[in-house]
Amino acid sequence: MSTLDSTPQFVTDAYEKMRRNLAVVRRRLHRPLTLSDKILLSHLDKPEEAELLPGKSYLHLRPDRVILQDVLGQSAMLQFMQTGLKRVAIPTTIHCDHLIEARVAGTSDLAASIDENKEVYDFLKSAAAKFGAGFWGPGAGIIHQVNLENYAFPGAVILGTDSHTPNAGGLGACAVGVGGADAIDAMAGLTWEVLYPKHIGVKLTGSLSGWTAPKDIILHLAGKLTVSGGTNAIIEYFGPGAESLSCTGKATITNMGAELGATTSIFGYDQMMARYLEATGRKALAELAEQYRELLTLDDGVLADPAPSYDTFIEIDLSQLEPHVVGPHSPDRARPLSALAAEVNAPDSTFINDISVCLIGSCTNSSYEDMSKAADIAEQARARGVTSTVPLYVTPGSEQIRATIERDGQMASLQAIGATVLANACGPCIGQWKRDAEATGKPNTIVTSYNRNFPRRNDGQPTTMNFITSPEITIAFALAGKLSFNPMRDSLTGADGQPFTLAPPGKAPDIPEGGYLKGASDFTEPPADGSDVVLQIAPDSQRLQVLKPWPAWDGEDVIDAAVLLKAEGKTTTDAISPAGPWLRLRGHLDKFSDNMFMGAVNAFTGITGSGLNVLTGEKDAPFSVIARHYQANQLKWVVIGDWNYGEGSSREHAALSPRLLGAAAIISRSFARIHESNLKKQGLLALTFADPDDYEKIREDDRIDLVGLQDFSPDQPVTCIIKHADGTQESIQLKHSYNRDQITWFQAGSALNLLR
Ligand code: F3S
Repeated sequence: MSTLDSTPQFVTDAYEKMRRNLAVVRRRLHRPLTLSDKILLSHLDKPEEAELLPGKSYLHLRPDRVILQDVLGQSAMLQFMQTGLKRVAIPTTIHCDHLIEARVAGTSDLAASIDENKEVYDFLKSAAAKFGAGFWGPGAGIIHQVNLENYAFPGAVILGTDSHTPNAGGLGACAVGVGGADAIDAMAGLTWEVLYPKHIGVKLTGSLSGWTAPKDIILHLAGKLTVSGGTNAIIEYFGPGAESLSCTGKATITNMGAELGATTSIFGYDQMMARYLEATGRKALAELAEQYRELLTLDDGVLADPAPSYDTFIEIDLSQLEPHVVGPHSPDRARPLSALAAEVNAPDSTFINDISVCLIGSCTNSSYEDMSKAADIAEQARARGVTSTVPLYVTPGSEQIRATIERDGQMASLQAIGATVLANACGPCIGQWKRDAEATGKPNTIVTSYNRNFPRRNDGQPTTMNFITSPEITIAFALAGKLSFNPMRDSLTGADGQPFTLAPPGKAPDIPEGGYLKGASDFTEPPADGSDVVLQIAPDSQRLQVLKPWPAWDGEDVIDAAVLLKAEGKTTTDAISPAGPWLRLRGHLDKFSDNMFMGAVNAFTGITGSGLNVLTGEKDAPFSVIARHYQANQLKWVVIGDWNYGEGSSREHAALSPRLLGAAAIISRSFARIHESNLKKQGLLALTFADPDDYEKIREDDRIDLVGLQDFSPDQPVTCIIKHADGTQESIQLKHSYNRDQITWFQAGSALNLLR
């Protein structure tokens, strides 16, 4: 047993603390509690005094665990180094899954990736050893599957530097995707601050049958709630239909709650979770969950009359649910499978009927049950001498899954119809997919059992249209090769020339009868004392850069700052700090920052990614080049943002790069909450126009003063003097949301500097 495991003693202590805190919360809130309330509020740092208004209050919680993937894990560990702390304060693991590119097949792709990313893996391994984190090497599996198999437990609060961390909600954990800054706080032993989420209740009745899979529940819900329907909310599933779903089927559903923008999604503890815990070698945790069941399930009062307890309440009858397909380009573009052919064949359809590639697996859909159902369809085809008509790829979620389906025959069934098994990694799910030249650059249809499908997601090509469905339906599409195919209605042609129809997959085992095989998982336990471990970063590394602490505030007002960028319209973190080919440079902040504001629209020109250098007069220079020039000339700069500046992912580089290249402040009409918090944590000023119309007053060649910073205090506005090039001036007021602690972050230069 690893010291990082959720041991029975660790979990008992966690449950006892939850019980004590919940007693305090119950004395304060005289109402039945939903499951998410029970788990979140029992993790409060100070349950006696915390303000408890859903959608309004900020909760300070004590998470149980942190999980880091390899891309964001690099910057997280580089920043953790800045704290000067010797060891992480709570169990933490690093998972090497995002950097492995799919090219040919699993074994050779993995070997190539290990070679190409060696210095990144070596660094992560050394940092894990030094600071007491567990290290899952390349090939061990995808972060969320490995977490589900080894660490998650009912009632846990888990933070992960990846949007699909809610996968562990299938095992009753409250698992949330966060930015690196939040993860580092938790690793450093600080509390995690989160807006008290609203509640969405989903009651499941009936049971799934035929071709309908757990995936269809979340695809149906995505169509109903849309991609923003879960924003600042936890989606909670319950009811007799929920109890009929396997633990891994539940995980598929909670995984994709991220597509609805939900803070997380969760199921209450039940027998299916107990079965999964037992099958993954954690019988003692199932017994503990049974013992503390009251903490891990909804109050009877909520179950009896759910609607009043939820901001949004939805009921889904699983017996009536049809298989669904969503896409292209958005997961909320949903329809029942039975309606897809008409859309494909409509005269004005832009859909391409010929499928170019099918892919199953990923962290979303690679469970033993998923693979068994996919193999069932493959076997039916094999019996009729039929193989996949298009390239078919399988991404196992973990080495444990890969080894088990190899032993039990599902892999052989899929390979018999022509499937290629890729590495146990993210691969084509995150654009790490080297497709053949002739397949890219032109509109084409792919079908996947993954979770995300926005343009460029899978192969970097905006013209690739990704339709998402369940693994078994994906296999049926692969056999037919046509998007208009409906296995419930249409037939295939066997090798004997006779038509045949596919039967729905039979009931598949949710766990392997012969138990899971561990396979050759590459896990390294950290030493008890890592102080002698040398961090592996070459001084001339092109991939990694040791971060220096940001300088403290100089005690001066901001005077004569240039306007680097006035952004117009939606400015997401991806516009501020694009990903794609930049992914490989995430560990090298200086090189990575060359992408700063590449996707931001210049309000003065309408051009994306470039603006005026007021020192040289050069127009349309890349913003990062201008910023570096200003910095070299000791000229501070500000950014002017529009509404909801910094929306999208919690990408911390959207704050780190401006900080590195000399930003003094970001002034916007409003901020997306997580980005505003990231800016504050990096010691930047995040200010909003008291009168949003003042945004219009900013001109391209203005100089900006921010005065009175010595008196910067909560609820007090900051005075901004806009100095126009024609010699006129305007004075406006800027608001902010800094509390006293956050002001000390600004003064110290960053939140991390206070830990040193
Ligand atoms: Fe990886 Fe895709 Fe999941 S990127 S973590 S397989 S969502």
